[in-house]
Amino acid sequence: MENPLKLKRIHHVEFWVGNARQSAYFYRQGFGFSQVAYSGLETGQRQRASYALSQGKANFILTTPMTPDDLAADHIRKHGDGVRDIALEVEDADQAFAEAVRRGAQAAEEPHDVRDEHGAIRRAAVHTYGDTIHSLISYKDYEGPFLPGFVAAPLAGDDCGILRVDHIVGNVELGKMQYWADYYTRVFGFHRYITFDDKDISTEYSALMSIVMSDDSHSVKFPINEPAAARNKSQIQEYIEAYGGAGAQHIALQCKDVLYTVRKLQRNGLDFLRVPDAYYDALPSRVGPVEESLAELRSLGILVDRDEEGYLLQIFSKPVEDRPTVFFEVIQRKGSRGFGKGNFKALFESIEMEQARRGNL
Ligand code: FE2
Repeated sequence: MENPLKLKRIHHVEFWVGNARQSAYFYRQGFGFSQVAYSGLETGQRQRASYALSQGKANFILTTPMTPDDLAADHIRKHGDGVRDIALEVEDADQAFAEAVRRGAQAAEEPHDVRDEHGAIRRAAVHTYGDTIHSLISYKDYEGPFLPGFVAAPLAGDDCGILRVDHIVGNVELGKMQYWADYYTRVFGFHRYITFDDKDISTEYSALMSIVMSDDSHSVKFPINEPAAARNKSQIQEYIEAYGGAGAQHIALQCKDVLYTVRKLQRNGLDFLRVPDAYYDALPSRVGPVEESLAELRSLGILVDRDEEGYLLQIFSKPVEDRPTVFFEVIQRKGSRGFGKGNFKALFESIEMEQARRGNL
């Protein structure tokens, strides 16, 4: 197994947002995350306010700048709310950082201790696509509520059955997909897991290409998308223009019972993409027998795909900001380790209808 940075898992995803207090409320009330910890003025942090949320093994931080000269303020002005940091836990942040830089990664933060009365972690960061970074975090003796600098601030959410982050997709500029796929191979030792070209992912109007990069244990998967030429504007190009460059497109959250999770998320008011009803008429002949009721899949708008290993159930939210940028996927895997290739066409036609409504097709 090749794991040059001794990567263990996705530690958390940090969003830089215009109003972290309200975003935290959205992820608690909408997605069922529980608030775990807080850092801000009351804890002596005058630069930024941060809320740490978790559900299952998925951890999010919502951070907002307290002053206009903070780096996060520039990020929000340029990108709107978005993913700043896909933070990775590693065995040894010093070793991981040195190895990443030796392998060609651009340094974002030199290794340093972050400490409070609960102990210390070691932290560094490297750049990836756009203004996105990968923090590299290793634990020394920290035993506090989340990370040093945070105080416990528990606020229970109504758990929606989300287990973990399944994958995080990056959208990059035309012609840059191969570069970033190579970056994950060169720096992280990832391998190419699946490639989708414009023949797999095209409709009458628009197209995209995608390479899924994965670590050897398949616990961290980062698909990279780029726009492809077609009659109309690719959804990836729409994202790049709205986000002001490359960035994280969607976070897939794995759950144990997709019917339960999606029922709750819809009751919480989250908006999901819908495919035409004809999709469900064709479903039995396309994927064969599944354990879930077809009527319920249809009423919730859940998509199904099957490959040699089994099947998966998935659904996609609409963008969770006003700019058509970051959205979420909810996925349950029943054997399949794929990404729902059989759903691409129906799904992208549905995305295009939304793009057309936004005047961006
Ligand atoms: Fe996905």
